[in-house]
Amino acid sequence: MEKLKALSGEHQLSSYEEACQSFEWTQAEALFSWNLTGNVNMAYEAIDRHAEGELATKLALLYFDGEREERYTYVDMKRESNRSGNVLKSVGVEKGDRVFIFMPRSPELYFILLGALKLGAIVGPLFEAFMEQAVHDRLLDSEAKVIVTTEALLPRIPVDQLPHLETILIVGDGVEESGKIIDYRKLASDASTDLDITWVDREDGMILHYTSGSTGKPKGVLHVHNAMVQHLMTGKWVLDLQPDDIYWCTADPGWVTGTSYGIFAPFLNGATNVIVGGRFNPEFWYSVIERFGVTVWYSAPTAFRMLMGAGEEAFEKYDLSSLRHILSVGEPLNPEVIRWGNESFGLRIHDTWWMTETGAMMICNYPTMDIKPGSMGKAIPGCEAAILDDRGQPLPPHRMGNLALKTPWPSMMRKIWKNDAKYESYFWGDWYVSGDSAYMDEDGYFWFQGRVDDVIMTAGERVGPFEVESRLVEHPAVAEAGVIGKPDPVRGEIIKAFIALRKGYEPSDELKAEIQKFVKEGLAAHAAPREIEFKDKLPKTRSGKIMRRVLKAWELNLETGDLSTMED
Ligand code: WT7
Repeated sequence: MEKLKALSGEHQLSSYEEACQSFEWTQAEALFSWNLTGNVNMAYEAIDRHAEGELATKLALLYFDGEREERYTYVDMKRESNRSGNVLKSVGVEKGDRVFIFMPRSPELYFILLGALKLGAIVGPLFEAFMEQAVHDRLLDSEAKVIVTTEALLPRIPVDQLPHLETILIVGDGVEESGKIIDYRKLASDASTDLDITWVDREDGMILHYTSGSTGKPKGVLHVHNAMVQHLMTGKWVLDLQPDDIYWCTADPGWVTGTSYGIFAPFLNGATNVIVGGRFNPEFWYSVIERFGVTVWYSAPTAFRMLMGAGEEAFEKYDLSSLRHILSVGEPLNPEVIRWGNESFGLRIHDTWWMTETGAMMICNYPTMDIKPGSMGKAIPGCEAAILDDRGQPLPPHRMGNLALKTPWPSMMRKIWKNDAKYESYFWGDWYVSGDSAYMDEDGYFWFQGRVDDVIMTAGERVGPFEVESRLVEHPAVAEAGVIGKPDPVRGEIIKAFIALRKGYEPSDELKAEIQKFVKEGLAAHAAPREIEFKDKLPKTRSGKIMRRVLKAWELNLETGDLSTMED
């Protein structure tokens, strides 16, 4: 326990490395109430436990969207999540049911998500920018029973094509009820604020995040309640959450960062959590830091680059002196961004590496260790990372290969929803293979090199080329489409589509714009190709697969490599 205390953010530098080495996850399990009571539920540990203890009247959630500002203590959060739980219960939600939440950030989104967890339901948060096709694929695959949404987003839910969907709860004012559509607020205003939590097993499903791979439709990555062990500890070690901190994670809960670190880690640690709605805007973001006195800030390289691009003028209007710790995730953190962080805030931005599938941070720069700019850092205590060659053998330092993690760890995904084969494909023996390539140096620091597969990271969001290609070929003018990520100074990568047109269609700027709109309206704005290039023919294998590798080589003027499988 001594050592664990040293790990719990008391800045005891000297004992840190030593403590890391002897750390076992069972030590962290001792910090949860279920260790004594046997009663497990993420929402209890994150909210009710604090509401019933010393932190009862501490501010838990600060919400601001430019107009609406609301503040909730832990007691308020318990009451409101109970109320939401009762609303969901009244429409038949039970343990294990999939409850989707498809709405812009607002305090209610957080109450509903926590309320669903209190019933033992599996929550599926959907990013508000998703359009009909994307919403359909995710609700159908997960067989969602209930979705909570807003009137504005309702038209994107193809109710007739979703046989398992029983109820649509609309959060709004004066909702017109009909069929499956029910007024959420009407139910909420009458709902009890007492709720008996449904206790679950640590291995029971908690949250389903859909994410992209290089082939096939998005896959549902299932996390279980046990993930809380790693959320709690990385909140201490890496976010370095202290009692007085005002913490702001800028990610939307539609992505895993927005739940693991926008909800679970901060609340488990009893922090004050800032939630900001609305779109990215440099001045607005700076004003949020000033307004709430944000001390710990977790964001992404794309956002930092955009702030950088907004220049000093925007920066200098605000008092940002409250900041003491800045972290980044999602894409490589460029040295010039680190330099900007040093010059602007006098703080070094700490990179963290992990994935939807890992559920929590895995490789990090934590405050008590020396940082090497450009490196993602080292494996956290209790986790082991390595670089493997293509046969699964660990490589020595400085050799580039597959970034892999030794299984298991507390927050590891437990399932790809209804796709066991996909799940199995991640593992080589005891190792989980990430799909990233990297090398390790002699001190155990990892250096990101790129993706092994064709997954695109654009503005910190993961987009599968296959999902975009599938949508493109639904357009009447498109015969074939190949999609790649093209390097971009601000967004990391942008999506570029190569398209062969059907007979009777001619390339034009109007057609490009129409095709872009078609993807935007079907999937999401962030999934639409910013660049389109028309080709007579696309490079394909003899079996008919588009060779994205060749498209990428064309784009970047690189060698095309082995073309023996290519059709003439
Ligand atoms: C992919 C996972 C859960 C975090 C948000 C993204 C890339 C993530 C870093 C980093 C370079 C990074 C990897 C990874 N990535 N963090 N610090 N440096 N690349 O989660 O959407 O599941 O994407 O994001 O390529 O495989 P995700």
